[in-house]
This record gives sequence, structure tokens and C-alpha cells, in this order.
Amino acid sequence: MHNAAFAALGLDWRYVACEVAPENLAAALEGARVMGFCGVNLTVPHKRLALDLMDELDASARAWGGVWTPVGQLRWVPGPVRLRGHNTDADAIVRALREDLLIEPRGARVLLLGTGGAGKAAALRLADEGVETLWLQNRTASKAVELAAEIADRFPAVDVRVGLPDTDVEILLNATSSGLKAEDPLPLDVASYPLARADGVYDMIYRPAETPLLRAAREAGCRTANGLGMLLYQGAAAFELWTGRPAPVEVMRSALVREVQGYPGESR
Ligand SMILES: NC(=O)c1ccc[n+]([C@@H]2O[C@H](COP(=O)([O-])OP(=O)(O)OC[C@H]3O[C@@H](n4cnc5c(N)ncnc54)[C@H](OP(=O)(O)O)[C@@H]3O)[C@@H](O)[C@H]2O)c1
Repeated sequence: MHNAAFAALGLDWRYVACEVAPENLAAALEGARVMGFCGVNLTVPHKRLALDLMDELDASARAWGGVWTPVGQLRWVPGPVRLRGHNTDADAIVRALREDLLIEPRGARVLLLGTGGAGKAAALRLADEGVETLWLQNRTASKAVELAAEIADRFPAVDVRVGLPDTDVEILLNATSSGLKAEDPLPLDVASYPLARADGVYDMIYRPAETPLLRAAREAGCRTANGLGMLLYQGAAAFELWTGRPAPVEVMRSALVREVQGYPGESR
């Protein structure tokens, strides 16, 4: 999506994928800096490891946890800061819920499945957005309890609970990695909480395009969306951080749909 965006804007830039072993992350970032890279995206397990390597954290990275887009401030920030960490995932999930699921998070009741890196960023950002009630459900319950305590402390207006709701919700958000593989179980015990109790179901997973959870939710009559929009919107934000120019979002969406889901993307 980035190369399609560079081409659309006539920028002679390139986005390349590099596989880096965790123990080489510091050397790789220093190498990127001296070679004049403007910025990098990090994915697991580097997002968390990178926290200790940043010269400065943007407010987004401080607020929402793991670093997603550290930006080498080599071109456009004067002064001593070299590498600044940003988190563009958190804003992206709110935008995706609004634009792709067509549900307003503010004032909503939300059930979040999974409190790993992406789930945590989503929970904190949704709390900041002013959801009414947030239920946190995680395979390792202690992590959900810990995150609930952080949210209660930082966002006292939000009613945060651990476990499954005793009421309907507007949004059910899957932030677990269960669904990436065809044989994965549903990330939710639907006997305990039927999917029909959710207006909309968002799955952060985008490949496969329809996870077993999304299929079951569609069949239960829920509105559904996969994680492609979240991927797109964090990418668009990163593009704007690096280039200082508005991202050509529809060009990026088409490229993503084509590359990730294997069929031509339609501009909306
Ligand atoms: N669309 C996007 O742009 C985007 C961005 C980021 C992430 N994602 C997706 O979001 C998901 C989570 O990513 P992450 O970075 O947060 O990973 P992570 O930090 O490794 O967290 C994984 C989460 O999934 C849970 N989990 C794993 N296997 C499970 C299973 N079989 N049943 C129930 N829960 C299970 C883990 O529970 P425990 O705590 O018990 O281990 C944890 O809550 C992944 O599928 C990733 O592809 C999408």
C-alpha cells in the first residue's frame, strides 16, 4: 500500500520488508538511520522491544502502549531527537469501527476479546474515546484484570469489567490471534454469549477475509468488518508521519485488497 501511495504521489520513495532477528533490532535501526531511512514499521515481537530503543516517545505511544511506527526524525525534526516512536494502531481501530462497521464507539457498550498488544491499545483508546462500558475477556485472565485496573485508574468515567457482558453490546471486537488459522476455535464461547447479542462484530484479523467468527456473526445477523481497515488506517497515518503529505487512502485501500485478499480493490 505504501509503494502504491508513493507512486500515486510521484514520490521516488520505496517501502521494503526486512526480516530482523530480535537480538539485532538495535543494530538494524541504527543501520536504517545511517542509510537515510525516514522511518520504519515494526511488527511482533519488535513493537514492544523497540520501546527501550526510542530517543523519544510520541504522546500516542506513551498513551496506547507498544510502539507501532517509530519514525527516524532524520529529515524533518530539528534538534537532538533521532528516533521517535508512534502508535498509529489505536486511532486506526476507532476509525475502522466508525467507517467500516458504521458504529460510533463513543457511548457504546463494547466487548473486547484479547488483551495482547493490539487489544490493550484498542482498550485504552476506546476508553479515551468515551465508551460507556467495556468488558475485557482474555484467555489469560490476569492480563485482563491488570488492564481493567489501568483503565479504571486512567479513565474513571468508563465502566470497565472483566468477563462476559450480562447485556447486549453495540460492538464485539476480536483482538485475539484465534482465527488466523482455519482450524482455530472461535475466540468466544457462543453458548455463554451468543453473537446475536452484538450489533456489530469487528475482527482485527484480515486474512482470511472472513474468519469463522465473522462468518458466524454474519449468520447471526450482525454487521461485520475485518481488520483490513485498521491495517489501512494505521498505514495511512504512518505515511503521513513519514512524508508530511496527506495519504491517498483509496489508492492504498485498493493496493491492500489486491495484495492481501487477492482480488482487485474497488475504490469506495
Ligand atoms: N488489522 C490490523 O492492522 C492489526 C494490527 C495489530 C494486530 N492485529 C491482529 O490482532 C491480533 C492480536 O495481535 P497482537 O499484536 O495483540 O498479538 P499478541 O500481543 O500476541 O496478543 C495475542 C492475543 O490473542 C490471545 N490468543 C492467542 N491465541 C488464542 C486462542 N487460541 N484463544 C483465545 N485467545 C488467544 C492472547 O491471549 P493470552 O494473553 O492468553 O496469550 C492475546 O490476548 C492478531 O490476530 C493480529 O494479526 C491486526
